Amino acid sequence: MCDLQKAAFCLDDLLRPLHDLRISVTDRCNLRCTYCMPGEVFGRDFVFLRHAELLSFEEIVRAARQCVALGVRKIRLSGGEPLLRHGIERLVEMLAGLHGDDGKPIDLAMTSNATLLAKKARALKDAGLMRLNISLDALDENIFRRMTGSSVSPGTVLEGISAAQSAGLTPVKVNAVIKRGINESEILPLVRHFRHTGVIMRFIEYMDVGNTNGWRLDDVVTAKEILARIGSEHLLNPIDRQASGGVAQRWAFQDGGGEIGVISSVTQAFCHTCSRLRLSTDGKLYTCLFATEGVDLRTLLRTQSSDDMALQQRIAATWRCRTDRYSQLRHEMTGTLPGRIEMSYIGG
Ligand code: GTP
Ligand code: 5AD
Ligand code: SF4
Ligand code: SF4
Repeated sequence: MCDLQKAAFCLDDLLRPLHDLRISVTDRCNLRCTYCMPGEVFGRDFVFLRHAELLSFEEIVRAARQCVALGVRKIRLSGGEPLLRHGIERLVEMLAGLHGDDGKPIDLAMTSNATLLAKKARALKDAGLMRLNISLDALDENIFRRMTGSSVSPGTVLEGISAAQSAGLTPVKVNAVIKRGINESEILPLVRHFRHTGVIMRFIEYMDVGNTNGWRLDDVVTAKEILARIGSEHLLNPIDRQASGGVAQRWAFQDGGGEIGVISSVTQAFCHTCSRLRLSTDGKLYTCLFATEGVDLRTLLRTQSSDDMALQQRIAATWRCRTDRYSQLRHEMTGTLPGRIEMSYIGG
């Protein structure tokens, strides 16, 4: 067990510290991205979690506080689409009150599709949100609609991005998942669009997360290919990968136009620095994006007799015995693992 009284940090079985917490606040989304919630599976009849199954804001904050006591310094809210959770600003405000034992506030960020952001950016900033990462897979209307399985226009997302920048939710990072034959052609237009704007454009290798997206290795456009495309038009210099396990390889434009990133979890796994714990919408802890089983916290949170130390012990024990490094082992596994949880439920 961790020494809970003194735990400045908590190490897993591979000596990786617990540093980041990703919290999924809803399993619902207003888009149906083909790589995440394909419309054929997440259709009208799909049964989402009932409200009573969701952790309340108070329960989320109680769990987060114990994670902070164990070393978490970064909290990211995600979903599904986190802005669909009613009163999300209140949760942000509650989490913004958490501090590390050094007295510093926690790095509080959100990953959103930004379709509902234009009206909410200012309130989120006022509530204490620091940064936003936004998904945008294409600027071309048809390709965007094809990728997101929706009739939303990329213009709506661009308005959300502008609102985030105006509100000071910076630096804004934009994530594009690249699928072969579908939106590769959008790589350079996205790069051109966001150069010199302060937005950090990041390209993500399409991952085999969940069981519903029909992933095939052939559909993955590798980080190497993505960089070659960008490099054909722009001179780039490498930047050191972010401290404490950032997922992106970062590159700066030589002409001072800002930076881009590539997230290569398929071809160059970064499990060795993975410090991320995930809390699902219904209160389970997952130690890997590709996990098949979570550890229930909700029952403990809802048991009247449960105290915070019991909660902390369960979180610490879960992290301590963690051995996950799925992306590093992927090539040794054949087929998909049955029962792997979906990204919209675990929080990306
Ligand atoms: P910051 O570095 O704090 O800005 O956030 P982030 O890049 O970790 O968060 P974001 O939600 O923007 O994630 C970007 C992409 O990286 C998404 O496709 C995530 O699913 C992927 N990602 C994030 N964490 C992990 C991880 O632990 N493992 C893998 N394989 N992919 C991850
Ligand atoms: N592969 C790679 N990235 C994915 N995301 C969702 N599903 C996948 C997948 N199968 C990304 C979204 C969002 C982030 C939370 O995860 O684009 O930016
Ligand atoms: Fe929704 Fe994000 Fe999943 Fe797309 S990737 S369906 S926007 S949760
Ligand atoms: Fe972390 Fe699992 Fe992703 Fe590896 S595959 S980086 S262990 S979440």
